[in-house]
Order: sequence, then C-alpha cells, then structure tokens
Amino acid sequence: MPNTLPRIVVLISGGGTNLQALIDAEAAGSLEGTIAGVISNRAGVKGLERAETAGIPTRVIPHREHSSRESFDGALMATIDGFSPDLVVLAGFMRILTDAFVQHYQGRLLNIHPSLLPAWPGLHTHRKVLEAGEAEHGATVHFVTEELDGGPRIIRGRVPVHTDDDEETLAGRVGAQERRIYLEAVRWFCQGRLRLANGETELDGTRLNEPVDRDKNP
Ligand code: GRF
Repeated sequence: MPNTLPRIVVLISGGGTNLQALIDAEAAGSLEGTIAGVISNRAGVKGLERAETAGIPTRVIPHREHSSRESFDGALMATIDGFSPDLVVLAGFMRILTDAFVQHYQGRLLNIHPSLLPAWPGLHTHRKVLEAGEAEHGATVHFVTEELDGGPRIIRGRVPVHTDDDEETLAGRVGAQERRIYLEAVRWFCQGRLRLANGETELDGTRLNEPVDRDKNP
C-alpha cells in the first residue's frame, strides 16, 4: 500500500521540541501525515539528532554560506521541493524568509510563535511578558505571510503567568502548550480541514475570525 499520507517538511534551527512532538504523533499514528524531511540552517543541533533517531532524512543549509537572503532561500526552496511537500512547518526556525519564499509556499506554510498574537511579535517574548507584568501568555500557530508573525491565526494556547515565574519556567509552560496546539493545527491541515482562503483561516469550511482557543492552566 503506497504511503499516501500528506508529506510534511519541518524546518528547524535548534532544539526541535516541536519537531519531537510531531515525530511522536506520527509514530502514534495521530498526525495523519508523514514527516518526509527535516531541514536546519544550523549543523549539529539537537533537532537534527531527533530526526535522525526517528529515521527521517535531514539536510543542513548553513545560512552563513550564502551572501544574501535570496541565495539562501533559493537553496532552501530547492531542498524543500526535493521532498515534494504538501505542508511546510516552521518549528523553531529562526530565519526571516523572503517574500518569494513565502509566496511559493503560501497556504501550506505554518509557524508557531511563543506569544498570544497579535501581542508580542518578534523575539524574547517571555522576557517582555514578564517585564510587562502580564497575567497571561501563550503561543499561537498561524499561516505564514509576508508580514512577520502576522499571518492569519489558527489556534492559540494560553497559560497563566505565575508571580514567581522567570523566563525559564514561563518558557517551559508555554512550550508544553506549543506542542499541543501545533499537533492540532498540523493534523487539521493533513485532514484537509484547515486552509488559507482569500487571506483568511478557514476551518471545516468556516472562516475563523478568532483563532481556536486552548486554555490550559497547568
Ligand atoms: C520555541 O519557543 C518556539 O515557540 C519558537 O522557537 C522556540 C524553540 O522551538 N518558534 P523548538 O524547541 O526548536 O521546537
């Protein structure tokens, strides 16, 4: 029986905890897709080990070997397309992608950001949330568009901020939510339930004005 599950390529830059959640879901038969390849812009990262342990093909495209974003993205696109993906998942991928890249994969390109978007786009969200004294934090999965961290949102997971939290404890709580909500979003896409339609998120044929909310008060 040929493997007709949707093919997923995962882009990483580091630890790969979100990748591991997807690997575990595929092994458990609950991803409804198959991870065809894992690509990193940095060699020797834990995420590559996770893929190799799971027998998933890996590639490294060192961004430092490219003199421009366009050159790097071109090499990245050629490598991604070599896996014939139905879906490209950014999972801790720390590069800003060119418009040409985004347009090539638009509608089948997801990202997870460690904040309750549109709040706190950009980097160091846990620190900024703590400094702002927020009572709540979380993570958001969205379609990737040319607007950094601004694409149509799909699902978000909330966590409480505890008074004794530091960046590490808060990041740990957010990370647990990340792994849950990314799994849901990727599964929905593989099931054909989730799509980007006219620039908006559509789930089961209905436009989402707000992302699906997942409260988890661990
Ligand atoms: C996570 O905080 C994730 O939200 C962000 O990158 C960080 C590392 O992710 N996108 P991972 O452990 O490499 O999956």
